[in-house]
Amino acid sequence: MDGSPASHHRLNEPQNHQDLDPADWEAVRALGHRMMDDMIDHLRDLRQNPAWRKMPPEVRAALHQSLPEAPTAPGEIYNEISELVTPYVTGNTHPRFMGWVHGGGNVMGMLADMIAAALNPNVGGRDHSAVAIERQVVAWSAQMVGLPETSSGVLVAGSSMANFIAVTVARTAALGPDVRRTGVGTHNLVGYASEAAHSCLPRAMDQAGLGSDALRPVPTDHLHRMDIEALRQMVAADRAAGLEPFMVTGTAGTVSTGAVDNMAALADFCRAEGLWFHVDAAYGAFGMLSPKLRPLLAGLEQADSVAFDFHKWGQVPYDAGIALVRDPARHLAAFDHAADYLRREKRGLATGELWPCDLGPDLSRGFRALKVWTTLRAYGTKALGRVAEQTCAIAQTLGAAIESNPRLELLAPIGLNIVCFRVRAEHNVVDALNADILADIQEAGIAVPSSTLIDGKFAIRAAIVNHRTRPEDALAMLDAVLAAATARTKR
Ligand SMILES: Cc1ncc(COP(=O)(O)O)c(C=O)c1O
Repeated sequence: MDGSPASHHRLNEPQNHQDLDPADWEAVRALGHRMMDDMIDHLRDLRQNPAWRKMPPEVRAALHQSLPEAPTAPGEIYNEISELVTPYVTGNTHPRFMGWVHGGGNVMGMLADMIAAALNPNVGGRDHSAVAIERQVVAWSAQMVGLPETSSGVLVAGSSMANFIAVTVARTAALGPDVRRTGVGTHNLVGYASEAAHSCLPRAMDQAGLGSDALRPVPTDHLHRMDIEALRQMVAADRAAGLEPFMVTGTAGTVSTGAVDNMAALADFCRAEGLWFHVDAAYGAFGMLSPKLRPLLAGLEQADSVAFDFHKWGQVPYDAGIALVRDPARHLAAFDHAADYLRREKRGLATGELWPCDLGPDLSRGFRALKVWTTLRAYGTKALGRVAEQTCAIAQTLGAAIESNPRLELLAPIGLNIVCFRVRAEHNVVDALNADILADIQEAGIAVPSSTLIDGKFAIRAAIVNHRTRPEDALAMLDAVLAAATARTKR
């Protein structure tokens, strides 16, 4: 290479250029159609497959590969995906998956995700259609939970991130935006959430620089809801001790039992005490779309901020959650940032109002909003509200079957859509027996509930979240539990 303009030109000759588009578009089109057909069949035929399959050692080994230096043919890659990945994923699309709080996804969301990947916009900011779609989803979300349409919001991976954003906004509102430069210094901010709140809340306090001990666990009542009298006393005691209460988080649907805190009372309390009122409505928010469930969530609309997920009760494919803040100025004050290369211009692409990157920690962001927008458009809020309502009705059916069977014990009141129970047995074996039964039915691929502890007791926990789950699926899970119990006690 002699550095002359001519040799420079040679570097750019077509044969030297490496791009990643296929030489044969028609071959890729055919493979893409096959993939699409297979995925549509996969969703159509879910019921015929096990709810979960454990990855065999040879599959695990086959997935352990060295960094690929050379290309692999697309057809070969797809064969590997079909054989090594597709059969062994979590299984939460399956109608008898009832573990944790996993949504079932939906086919229109899947299709939208493919388009989002093809268009590949960076939704960190600027003035384009993908940002407009995200703004629309934010406005719909505010409307759904009853916040003003002027509220700000940002789509995130899930409620863990959304709760972190809310804590950070509340912290910055309490101490002023300078806290972002100086740190909290000698301030002693303390926040409150019920002892049944999700573990992401103490983590959010930690990540916001306040320390997880600064989240005070408030005792719960017999329905696993925050005891507001206890909260009142804790706030007064902390103030008397020189601490600075700044925030209360209510939970609309606790992770273990589905309990809903009394949010109207919490809103009143926070207003009277000058505290930020945040609601972790990770899955409960979609209950606002059901006329039957909405009254249970009264007070949510008074929150200063709300975190929730689309990928749980909203049935949007993973991952998609949102942090909503009533006062956009406060939201912006906690996350806005300037950089020479992120200037807002008067004309061109770098224009537009609020950029999403100023509302959360991420700068580059994918087009999550499209699968949310598509799901809401495709099914409408009425059907999604009915899905939430139907999962609660199935939980009640399951609860009644448990209560009518002397071999079984309901361990907690059924909050919304979550049922915690166990097979009765001698005190010294009951936890281990139930843990084994749970593993037995998961490994048999029959059904996938998960577990929790209720007052220190091991509980089999069925969270009915998936729109595909029918009453007979929940009852089949229960039959499998009883059969496994019989098999084990006979041994
Ligand atoms: C009440 C509650 N809050 C927060 C979360 C965390 O949400 P994500 O898993 O989307 O981060 C969950 C998850 O189940 C939850 O149930």
